[in-house]
Formats: sequence, structure tokens, C-alpha cells
Amino acid sequence: MNIVLLGPPGSGKGTQAKLLQDYYKIPHISTGDILRDHIKRETPLGKQVKNLLAEGKYVPDDVMLSLIKDRLSQPDSKKGFILDGFPRTIPQAESLQQIVHLDSVILVDADAELIVERISGRRTCACGASYHIESIKPKKEGICDKCGKELYLRDDDKPETVRKRLQVYAQQTSPLIQFYENKKMLTKIDGTAPIDSVFAKLKHILSHAVVNKE
Ligand code: AP5
Repeated sequence: MNIVLLGPPGSGKGTQAKLLQDYYKIPHISTGDILRDHIKRETPLGKQVKNLLAEGKYVPDDVMLSLIKDRLSQPDSKKGFILDGFPRTIPQAESLQQIVHLDSVILVDADAELIVERISGRRTCACGASYHIESIKPKKEGICDKCGKELYLRDDDKPETVRKRLQVYAQQTSPLIQFYENKKMLTKIDGTAPIDSVFAKLKHILSHAVVNKE
């Protein structure tokens, strides 16, 4: 099953994509995680995009397209995938159409106030795990349950950068809602509900997507 999760920063796309990955046994492809990994390893791409991410701006479409084409050509993507963070612009969405068929595009939505609260409380681990200082606490404060590493606040999770990311989302990504609505591919869900409820709703939507495909 080929799934796209759309939504503003902090709406819970990554949290849900990780649950879907375990449930459907298909890879969670987060373009943000891929870019952060390049930055950490100080690759040429990492050096090119480091400031863009820190400022909450988007990476150019041609760079993102070559990255996603490479990732989708890997063997694990052949049985399906969950795209989290791609596409983010109309040119990215149009190009994706040329590369793969999508079974479902789901908008996980949340309002700006909740987003700022969630993101400022998020604590991330280098292993990819994500926590929240109030709602998803690790067993030991500041330490990842999965790998024991220290948790950190992402560079782009500072309040002023979050506001910039919300502006960029409104300008460049929200037009994708109409794009996929016009193609009758979009389902919207409320990302403000508890994590388990959002996940139950997603599974329900996706079970229908599978039935419709068969
Ligand atoms: P990316 O990493 O994709 O960031 P984002 O889309 O802004 O999304 P986030 O990771 O901030 O949030 P999320 O929706 O995954 O929420 P999460 O589940 O963590 O991209 C980063 C940057 O990379 C971009 O700004 C851009 O510069 C660049 N980039 C990436 N892709 C690109 C592209 N295609 N084109 C151009 N540039 C690109 O949840 C947030 C917090 O809330 C967590 O603490 C979580 O524990 C908590 N939480 C989640 N759900 C719930 C719930 N239901 N109830 C309570 N708490 C919850």
C-alpha cells in the first residue's frame, strides 16, 4: 500500500507513520529524517540544506525529487511505503504522480496553537524516536527508552522557527489539499485527538483503501 501523510508541522504525521510502519510492515519514509541524517553526517547535501532547515525554509524541489526517487527505488519500497513530508509543493506532487501510484493521501490536521504547544514540547532522539515532555514521556527524563541516548530539541523546533514553518506550510503545502481533493484522493482526519484514536481512524480509512483496490 502506497500512502502519503500530509499535514502541518507537528500535526502528528511522524508519530502515526511509525505506528503504520509497524502495523503494515512497510517503510516509513520521512524526508525530514533523511535530511537531518545528511546534516548529522555532514555530507555535501547535509551542508547544502543545513541552514534551510534551521530557518524553517523548504529545500529546492529538484533536490527533494532526486532524493525521493532514489529512496523509492530501493527494494523495501516495492511492497509499499508511508511518505511523511513528501510531497510538500505542487511540483513535487506532480512529479510523484509520474513515479508511483498512490493508494491513499491522508491529511492529518491540527490548529496552529496546538502545533506550537506540541512542537515546543517535543524531544527527539538520534535513533528517530520522538517524545513529548507532557504527553509522551520517556521512562527516564531526557533519555530515549529505545536506545538510551540523550534526547534533544530539534534546531527548527524553536518557537520563532515553528511560526516560519507554519507560514511556509500555508503558502507552499496547503495548496496540495485542493490538488488531491480534485483527484478525489484525499481523506482528512483530526490530528488533535489522542494518538490511539488517530491511529484507529487511520487504520479504518486504510482498510477501505485496500478493499477498494481489490
Ligand atoms: P519534517 O521533519 O518533515 O517536519 P514537519 O513536516 O514540519 O513535521 P514535524 O516532524 O515537525 O511534525 P509531525 O507532523 O511529524 O509531528 P510529530 O508526530 O513529530 O521536515 C523538516 C524540514 O525538512 C522542513 O521544514 C523542510 O525544511 C525540510 N523538508 C522536509 N521535506 C521536504 C520536502 N518534501 N520539500 C522541501 N523541504 C523539505 O508530533 C509532534 C509532537 O506532538 C511530538 O512530540 C509527538 O510526540 C506529539 N504528538 C503527536 N501526535 C500527538 C497526539 N495525537 N496527541 C498528543 N501529542 C501528540
